[in-house]
Amino acid sequence: MSSSTVITNIATLITNDPSLSGTDPLGTVRNAAVVIEGDRVVWTGGASKAPATDNRVDADGRAVIPGFVDSHSHLVFAGDRTEEFHARMSGRPYGAGGIRTTVAATRAATDAELEANLTRYLREALRQGTTTFETKSGYGLTVEDEARALRIAAAHTDEVTFLGAHVVPPELADDPAAYVALVTGEMLDACAPHARWIDVFCEKGAFDGDQARAILTAGRAKGLHPRVHANQLTYGPGVRLAVELDAASADHCTHLTDADVDALAHGDTVATLLPGAEFSTRAQWPDARRLLDAGVTVALSTDCNPGSSFTSSMPFCVALAVRDMGMTPDEALWSATAGGARALRREDVGRLAPGAYADLAVLDAPSHVHLAYRPGVPLVTEVWRRGVRVAWPKA
Ligand code: NIG
Ligand code: FE
Repeated sequence: MSSSTVITNIATLITNDPSLSGTDPLGTVRNAAVVIEGDRVVWTGGASKAPATDNRVDADGRAVIPGFVDSHSHLVFAGDRTEEFHARMSGRPYGAGGIRTTVAATRAATDAELEANLTRYLREALRQGTTTFETKSGYGLTVEDEARALRIAAAHTDEVTFLGAHVVPPELADDPAAYVALVTGEMLDACAPHARWIDVFCEKGAFDGDQARAILTAGRAKGLHPRVHANQLTYGPGVRLAVELDAASADHCTHLTDADVDALAHGDTVATLLPGAEFSTRAQWPDARRLLDAGVTVALSTDCNPGSSFTSSMPFCVALAVRDMGMTPDEALWSATAGGARALRREDVGRLAPGAYADLAVLDAPSHVHLAYRPGVPLVTEVWRRGVRVAWPKA
């Protein structure tokens, strides 16, 4: 039997287990302890009631939260787009076209370069408390380049998404129908074995509603489950298509009609908001308050990519969501943990309850409210993933 460890003297423990505290969705416990056995949580509650364990770790009055679940990132890429960002911050608008710059750099990179880049951003994310992440292809856009992106990603996470339908690549710019045929045919066959999800950038300048439906439906027939880049830059059919196809998530949700909000409220599709993208493109914030008030399940995620949102920081996204998107600190924390888990249709992450993975972050603060109250401050002092304390070099 594996040894047991108690982390105790926790000022504020967020469990996302409402059974512990009545109506509080965060399942907050003050003066708390969490007991870990192997890679799982086996007990949570008041510190004075904790069962005997083999090992004891003192949290010294800090807060403990579930590890962040970053349910949307694009980490298999090469190069960066500093110039584009600089131009944008000097007044140029954001469009989907910049994706092709990263496609060219990614195609030119070796497998080892792509893997090194991916692991660099994963380390960065882990250091900031992310213990589960999803990542996508989408910067290869050939059969070989998409399949290798997914192979590389799959070595690091189970949450891998085929995004061959990111944009039409330059070599097929004059024949988008041929590219859709490739994505739904040979490319899908090569990619499906390495992925769990299929995604489409449903947007003007990328793929329209009919193309998105054809691609997502073809993916579903090969055992991939849909998620959709929807309503990011303009109003459009993406959100309603996502709900209709029971996509796990509609991501971005920046431009929503009342009918879109209503569809989300009545379906099982999570609205994943990506404030790093609006920050980095100086765009209008998604209205989280409107979604929450309508009863929609909301997730927060980084969208980490070199074009529209080059941040791996979930704490940063939480701070933006609280300051600019109408979320309370409690709602933002829930969305960045349990909400992300819902967007990946997972029960074993995003909460600290018996049976869940022992994935958690210790904050150098008495409560999670400090994530928004002290923006930009590296508050994550310790991370446990699968029951193991993660070591990183001291600064
Ligand atoms: O989620 N929207 C489409 N894809 C990315 C942008 C990728 C890029 O600009 O390279 C996004 O924002
Ligand atoms: Fe994205």
